[in-house]
Amino acid sequence: MPKKRKKHGRRGRPSKPRKPRLSKIKVQAPKGTHDILPEEQKYWDKLRAVVAQAATNYGFGRIDTPVFEDVRLYIKGTGQNTDIVQKEIYTFKTKGGEQLALRPEFTPGIVRAYIEHGMKNLPQPVKLCSIGPVFRHDKPQAGRYRQFHQINFEIIGDPTEVSDVQIIQTFVSILKRLNLKKFTIFINSIGCLMCAPKYKKNLLSYYKKRLNRVCPECRRRFDKNPLRLLDCKNEKCKKVTNEAPQILDYLCDECRLHFKKVLEILDDLEIPYILNPYLVRGLDYYTKTVFEVWEDKDDSGQGALLGGGRYDNLVEMFKGKSTPAVGAAAGMERIISFLKKQDIKISEIEKPKVFMIQLGELGKRKSLKLFDEFQRNGIKVGEAFSKPSIKSQLKIADKEGAKIALILGQKEALEDSIIIRDMVSGVQETVLIEKVINEVKKRLKQ
Ligand code: HAM
Repeated sequence: MPKKRKKHGRRGRPSKPRKPRLSKIKVQAPKGTHDILPEEQKYWDKLRAVVAQAATNYGFGRIDTPVFEDVRLYIKGTGQNTDIVQKEIYTFKTKGGEQLALRPEFTPGIVRAYIEHGMKNLPQPVKLCSIGPVFRHDKPQAGRYRQFHQINFEIIGDPTEVSDVQIIQTFVSILKRLNLKKFTIFINSIGCLMCAPKYKKNLLSYYKKRLNRVCPECRRRFDKNPLRLLDCKNEKCKKVTNEAPQILDYLCDECRLHFKKVLEILDDLEIPYILNPYLVRGLDYYTKTVFEVWEDKDDSGQGALLGGGRYDNLVEMFKGKSTPAVGAAAGMERIISFLKKQDIKISEIEKPKVFMIQLGELGKRKSLKLFDEFQRNGIKVGEAFSKPSIKSQLKIADKEGAKIALILGQKEALEDSIIIRDMVSGVQETVLIEKVINEVKKRLKQ
């Protein structure tokens, strides 16, 4: 029989209540995710600022869509047979029974918003920019995360080659503004609903005779996603691909002309590119132009910095009327890793030249108020309000490189005064609190 727990100690006294034992958890970010620590933020701030500037320069409006959507949006949009939907999408069922998915990419959500908000009634094209986290249950490795961040640009409602080029141009300007000069643009056209099916048929009959020479993944693609046979990185498969029929030979007149014009404008703009007839992209919605930007001339490295293309049928597939569109997305982690690899210096956010030091209860309260007044006057002030001793606060002020320390102790607080200390010479002067902002402004100008 199980023993009853004693409620009382040995001498009849109630025993001390036991401290509840907390079960230990694994103190580690989930696999494939990462923290962005304060010292890393300068890269993220810089990238976000450059993207915001490019969006303004090229006329894109920012759109923020939810991080989760109806899973069917991706099954239909991204494509049932894509790696994203087959292997990588995070799905969950809500308590109300809805099947949702964490967004594995922006495009379907943005197209949903374009339709839902009747953006077809706005002057076309509608140019939209997004930035934020996306989720793919990818195999974590260098440059490949399960939660990563994308910069996404879309132009919806323009069939002309100008928009294809403008998307590329916008991303090129972002990379250049970051001082990233050595990158390679690969470009191709994969045709439209008129010409692509004939090409796919010929591709399948070519591969059918050579299935014993390709990897198991390519055999799966043969059945489900034949175009992806072309971008297998396996050496054995590449040999087969090299002799395969090329889509450019099958383009209809409209697609050929469109692609020709895209390349001509890129030439005019002196944006170099490499024509890669095997570039097909891994998402189902693409038509006509597709492109990727890689760090090197070789596209077998850690992954593309960015990728995109035209998707003229997606809006219609979702319910809207036929609306041509083009867009691209870049992986922020990959761009930042490229910045670091190229040793590109990002200037630190300027540290405050003024540091506020407080002592005692009243000194602290008045300092908090004064700190706010300095912010309102546009003067950055450093502080260590949680530190009680003047010595430790002065040490921090010195470490942060402050030029001026403002010391507000109990005595000064009672007298409505404050000490201004020159951190270089050590010379101190007491002034009235009401005069301190002007006095600091004067000293900062010197
Ligand atoms: P995507 O090629 O799937 O295109 O992704 C765009 C970029 O996201 C990649 O070039 C890469 O930089 C980054 N990326 C992808 N997967 C990972 C990962 N697991 N870890 C880190 N970075 C990654 C799209 O998402 C399309 N929606 C682009 C687009 C917009 N097409 C038309 N409009």
